[in-house]
Amino acid sequence: MSKQKSQTIFVCQSCGFTSARWLGKCASCSSWNSFVEEKYTKTSSKPRKSSSTTTLLSDIKSGNDSRISINNNELNRVLGGGLVPGSIILIGGDPGIGKSTLAIQMLNSIKKERNDEIKLLYVSGEESPEQIKIRAERVGADSNSLYILPETNIENIKNEISKYNPLVVVIDSIQTMSTDDFNSAAGSVSQIRECTLKLMDQAKSKNFSVFLIGHVTKEGTIAGPKVLEHLVDTVLYFEGGKDHPYRILRAVKNRFGSTNEIGIFEMLSNGLVEVENPSEIFLSERSANSPGSVVIPSLEGTRPILIEVQALVSPCNFGTPRRTTIGLDPNRVSLLVAVLEKKAGLQILGQDIFMNIPGGVKIDEPATDLAVCISLVSSLQNKPIDPYTIIFGEVGLAGEIRAVSQAELRLKEAKNLGFKTCVLPKKNLDRLKQSNKSISLFGVESLNDAIDKLL
Ligand code: TYD
Ligand code: MG
Repeated sequence: MSKQKSQTIFVCQSCGFTSARWLGKCASCSSWNSFVEEKYTKTSSKPRKSSSTTTLLSDIKSGNDSRISINNNELNRVLGGGLVPGSIILIGGDPGIGKSTLAIQMLNSIKKERNDEIKLLYVSGEESPEQIKIRAERVGADSNSLYILPETNIENIKNEISKYNPLVVVIDSIQTMSTDDFNSAAGSVSQIRECTLKLMDQAKSKNFSVFLIGHVTKEGTIAGPKVLEHLVDTVLYFEGGKDHPYRILRAVKNRFGSTNEIGIFEMLSNGLVEVENPSEIFLSERSANSPGSVVIPSLEGTRPILIEVQALVSPCNFGTPRRTTIGLDPNRVSLLVAVLEKKAGLQILGQDIFMNIPGGVKIDEPATDLAVCISLVSSLQNKPIDPYTIIFGEVGLAGEIRAVSQAELRLKEAKNLGFKTCVLPKKNLDRLKQSNKSISLFGVESLNDAIDKLL
């Protein structure tokens, strides 16, 4: 029998840094009072035997055709074209946003795509099988291939996985799981990391995929398991305000696809429904002819989405002018305000400025610069922009308008939604191949050109 070794370590709960003694301030992430004592018992001191062998790259089968397709366009796109067998995916989000609902619906969509007998396992450490059944019925899930396991011990879960051989496993949530190797409470950094490593080992050898659900803490990181982000293959964040029915699934890291992709869902009484035409929704409540409102064709991954940008510029009566931005990078807005003052000769630096992207979306690409500038000028001068015009282009510090990527895609979406005019960088216009009859295009070279044309 091997001798049991017990060791005490102190682990920072916000970054996973370990120390032999307690520290008031973490040496790695500088957070205060984050160290927790954890006892680690190693039951076996035998080194792990590796079974891996060296292989020539050309002898390895490509894994691309074996992707598991999901009967849900939004999920498929965010995952980069389906689920890769053996991959580990972390889904993070606020409590109550709909992670468990998304997981059940995803399992159901996988079942729908396949005719053969497959097994799908849903492990819940938070809810009873009866509660899960109620939710599954609510979203209309087919219960024939769905197995439910209410369990929090990772060793037991691994045994059940070996017994049933599921194709996909959902762990809801990783913070409730624990392993016998550590004495610390479930949810501590060591428990989360060790449980994930154990599942990962089994997933890679038996080739099943794992979805780990993680709660986000107040600080916005996936509680403790920021430490998981480098272990897993894909990290998805499920976001959306409590006041909006829309939920956005965003890929933050993806070893098998692009990270700019987003999936948009609407939470209804029968679960999450894919939003097929997001542009229509984001523009549905726009009030035409109001100063400060401009529509931009923003590119989220490979998909163009038309979004409204709103600006409100009002005189500052006392003190330092206020700058409030929601859904846009505040530094970028400050930079553009300075360019407007200096290069377009507008008196705007001393004004209060409020900017908003309605609908709870965030946009973060330079192609929105020109639209932000025009919405500011429109509000400052109290002149509305024609509601059938879209605007895009990057603004440089000299007030020049620079070309952006994928102009054709952006124009296509604008045409589909009935826009008549587009103001775009001159360089983009020169490069456009096909002639556009249904939409008139105006190439601009400087901020002043654009202001003259539009206002
Ligand atoms: P849930 O998936 O339990 O969230 P999480 O696992 O992220 O904590 O979803 C919780 C919320 O979703 C809850 O407030 C009720 C709402 N909901 C609906 O509006 N429609 C539905 O069909 C379902 C299942 C939930
Ligand atoms: Mg849940």
